[in-house]
Amino acid sequence: MIEASILENIKKYNQEHLLRYYETLSDEDKKKYEKQLEELDFTYVDLFNNKDNNCKEDKNVFEPLQAMKISEINQRKEEFKKAGIEALKKKKVGAVLLAGGQGTRLGFDKPKGMFNIGVNKQLYIFERLVSNIMDVVKETGEVVPLFIMTSEINDHDTREFFEQNNYFGYDKDSVFFFVQSMAPSISFDGKFYMTAKDKISLSPNGNGGWFTSLVKAGLMDKIKEIGIEWLNVFSVDNVLQRIANPEFVGATILSGYPSSSKVVKKADPHERVGVMCRKNGKPSIVEYYELTEDMANEKDENGELAYNYGVILNYMFNIEKLMEIAGNSLVTHMVEKKIPYIDQNGDEVKPDTPNGYKFETLILDMINMFDNCLVYEVERKNEFAPVKNKEGVDSIQTARELLLYNGVEI
Ligand code: UTP
Repeated sequence: MIEASILENIKKYNQEHLLRYYETLSDEDKKKYEKQLEELDFTYVDLFNNKDNNCKEDKNVFEPLQAMKISEINQRKEEFKKAGIEALKKKKVGAVLLAGGQGTRLGFDKPKGMFNIGVNKQLYIFERLVSNIMDVVKETGEVVPLFIMTSEINDHDTREFFEQNNYFGYDKDSVFFFVQSMAPSISFDGKFYMTAKDKISLSPNGNGGWFTSLVKAGLMDKIKEIGIEWLNVFSVDNVLQRIANPEFVGATILSGYPSSSKVVKKADPHERVGVMCRKNGKPSIVEYYELTEDMANEKDENGELAYNYGVILNYMFNIEKLMEIAGNSLVTHMVEKKIPYIDQNGDEVKPDTPNGYKFETLILDMINMFDNCLVYEVERKNEFAPVKNKEGVDSIQTARELLLYNGVEI
């Protein structure tokens, strides 16, 4: 039986369609469906109803934020390396792989990390990432604890894949999986979508909730037990990125800042990447669509673009600071997506164009919660090869070319 409070919410939020098939379900399926209704956060409808106000941001003051350039990093390389190795040897650094996304643009029906980026040999994305961390393990002689965030959708496949492949040679006991939360999706007229007669449409709620999910999974005890003070958080799709590399770790620790972000020089002033800046006095990332024409073309005193450094989703965060800001809530973004659903007749529909919104929080919004962030430049052609799309920019093809360019056998 559906609880009275849920029925009230259904009425209050005009979601009566959620009960359309209820009476046709078996007793067992009814129970499962009731549980979903219990867990459904109806207040997402409020977000939808307020979407026009949510978009109107307060007047923000943007300023450029200086990056530590490759030339400076090279000059101080030994100093950074020494500090990084010392921290890594003491196991003060953990790595967090964000692998909960659905990778819809790639259109691969398994977790993105299971994609084979190889040509003449098998080279899975997960394998490639593990091999990148392994470089650090070899250099320091200590294993870097690796936390892997999955979603309810890909958790089983991901764990099984690591098991089947013997963790690609990584120390199994140093790998910890955790599952991120889900959020409903909503149609353009404000109705929650259903994917089956007994299923509400849910998808991963963005990468912004990674720390909350890690804490919720009880992994803070593990972090404390190991003595981890810093986390290097990275995305699943950049097959060239270096993970927890001593220079970056050392530079972050020596900066005295609680956070750092790897960045690359933009390919052109209008490249579609988030750019490091200062917003209202604090470090922040301005999305390419928020960048005004003036900002995009603004030059600094050296004649270089003032907003010139794009983020590549490779950050370091200090754990103590993370704990302090853990209670702060992140903005929830509504993202237009193609959402499969069942129509009034119960038939499945797979739309070709966006038909609704998914709700996501983003890790890049976390940066603004820190007082300072070290902006750390890396060489684009050596450290940035994201596999986002099937074809074109940031695609399988471009990533393969960059792997070859860097001498990786594929
Ligand atoms: P993307 O922004 O590329 O999103 O994620 P996505 O969902 O994987 O791909 P598209 O947009 O559907 O094609 C950047 C990183 O954040 C992770 C992804 O796995 C990737 O490492 N992520 C994204 C999560 O861990 N959880 C999410 O809910 C979303």
